[in-house]
Amino acid sequence: MDHTFDSDYWDRIWSGDRATAMRSSAPNPHLLAQAADLAPGSALDAGCGGGAEAIWLASRGWTVTAADIARTALDFGRERAATAGLGARVEWVQADLSTWQPEATYDLVTTHYAHPAIPQLEFYGRIATWVAPGGTLLIVGHLHPGQHDHTHRDEGHPPAEASATAAAITALLEPATWDVVTAEESQRTMTGPGGRERTIHDVVVRATRRP
Ligand SMILES: C[S@@+](CC[C@H](N)C(=O)[O-])C[C@H]1O[C@@H](n2cnc3c(N)ncnc32)[C@H](O)[C@@H]1O
Repeated sequence: MDHTFDSDYWDRIWSGDRATAMRSSAPNPHLLAQAADLAPGSALDAGCGGGAEAIWLASRGWTVTAADIARTALDFGRERAATAGLGARVEWVQADLSTWQPEATYDLVTTHYAHPAIPQLEFYGRIATWVAPGGTLLIVGHLHPGQHDHTHRDEGHPPAEASATAAAITALLEPATWDVVTAEESQRTMTGPGGRERTIHDVVVRATRRP
């Protein structure tokens, strides 16, 4: 890794090619599948980027806090929510989630591919503490293709330190506190900028905090 995942890095990302791609980005399919049966309440999208997931949650009746370190991404999300008539349902918060502490807990804490400069599992452990009793934690993250097969060297994937396996994530969740509902690893094909297809390796962990 030849850079730090700090706010300058993420602002550069959101001001470059990614900005074009995120204008057409659809909400994450894992969120749609996992959150469809949840009763709306308060939600935090940790590392919300351009806001596709936060806006989808708002459209389903959730009151959403959308937090990200990159001002550029938040500005885009805010504008997009306003255009969708959902501006009042989403609060856009600029925060470094490796140090930020929310004032309240949430009925749903979700994150999609956020990887701050702190170790990935430490980040997941932090956001898990922000789930209210009876609430849901939904982690959608990168699974590095080499994580189970160390001979695998696939280019164009996020670095291994931004990834975690389902087993490593569920090991953070004490059985006395959490019911693990979903712990899956999967892959899907996505069409990126320029119509290029690429394979995305995902990890999805959904857990309910015991009341
Ligand atoms: C790979 S992008 C994913 C964005 C969005 N969730 C999505 O799925 O399209 C990772 C996001 O995490 C944000 N991020 C990285 N480090 C962060 C930190 N320390 N605090 C808050 N957000 C952070 C980045 O700005 C970026 O928007």
